[in-house]
Amino acid sequence: MGIETSCDETGVGFVRDGVLLGDALASSMDEHARFGGVVPEVAARAHVNAMVPMVNAALENASLSLKDVGAIAVTAGPGLTSALQVGIAAAKSYALALDVPIYAVHHLAGHAAADTLEHGPLPSPCVILIVSGGHTSLLLVRDLVGERIVHLSDTWDDAAGEAFDKVARLLGLGYPGGPAIDRAAREGDPRAIAFPRPLMGPLAKAGQELEFSFSGLKTAVARYVEKGVDPGISTNDVAASFQEAVVDVLVSKALLACRTHGVDTLVIVGGVAANKRLRDSAEERCASAGVHLRVPPMRLCTDNGAMIAAIGDLLVRSGSPISPNDFTVDPAAVLHRAQLFIPSEVLEPLV
Ligand code: KG4
Ligand code: ZN
Repeated sequence: MGIETSCDETGVGFVRDGVLLGDALASSMDEHARFGGVVPEVAARAHVNAMVPMVNAALENASLSLKDVGAIAVTAGPGLTSALQVGIAAAKSYALALDVPIYAVHHLAGHAAADTLEHGPLPSPCVILIVSGGHTSLLLVRDLVGERIVHLSDTWDDAAGEAFDKVARLLGLGYPGGPAIDRAAREGDPRAIAFPRPLMGPLAKAGQELEFSFSGLKTAVARYVEKGVDPGISTNDVAASFQEAVVDVLVSKALLACRTHGVDTLVIVGGVAANKRLRDSAEERCASAGVHLRVPPMRLCTDNGAMIAAIGDLLVRSGSPISPNDFTVDPAAVLHRAQLFIPSEVLEPLV
């Protein structure tokens, strides 16, 4: 059983031997819309209300009962502290009551594991582009649960999803911004405005080729809107042009990472991987570069419980150590390993 409560989604999923048996998802997104972003206390309260109903709904969806549960994985970070705490409390309670082992896992490793539910085990090595609301990273992965994960690059400032959310707000497209821009951009011209491609081209300094920065691009859109949109240019055109800049940067750098490290599989995961233009452009450019592309189905891109069950299932099958009973939240956890709070005596030999 996997439990996810790091942000505004209460997700529960069941996975056995790499197969998704069933899952359930509740979202408090509507309760945050009027604030223009997730309010931690509101999210935490919604998790409290949705937790047990989602466990029961996922059990029903998977045609399982609680006594079938063999292990529990729960997101321990990164994420909102109060939201994470609800999932951890629930996971510990179920683990204690059912007398099964518990695994504290990293949310972003869950995003990567989501793809295995659709496309099977990850090849070794692969490059993983994680694009979520809080993170944008290029990773070199050999064994998602057995080895330290190598960060090829991370964003210097805003994450890609955060840029989508902020630009959507300034264009008056509402929250959450990613899906809103995705929709608006379908009616717009991606070549209408030449927004900058941060840290790309001749201006990028040596060593910055794989790095990301989206805050300047967001500011460029803000300046453009402030000075008054040119005649004949619609909000949809601005959305499409912004989206095109983000997608161009993401796909170019991900392909460069594959080329630089001699890797022939690219995996794109996280909420922004649900973006239609990103999926289409990556497919096109990977095909012409001879790189095998893997992207999870849309519903497994954004936060869910199935992805946490998927990483838990991988940890169980690899014989990973059980997390100590007293583990807690790690709200700013960096993705070095899929599992958080690994007992130190077993950690050393793995390094
Ligand atoms: O992975 P995720 O569900 O939560 C985090 O771990 O952060 O990612 C959420 C982010 C949000 O910023 C949201 O706007 C973005 O993913 N997102 C999208 C799309 N769907 C969700 N961005 C662009 N296009 C989409 N279709
Ligand atoms: Zn996420």
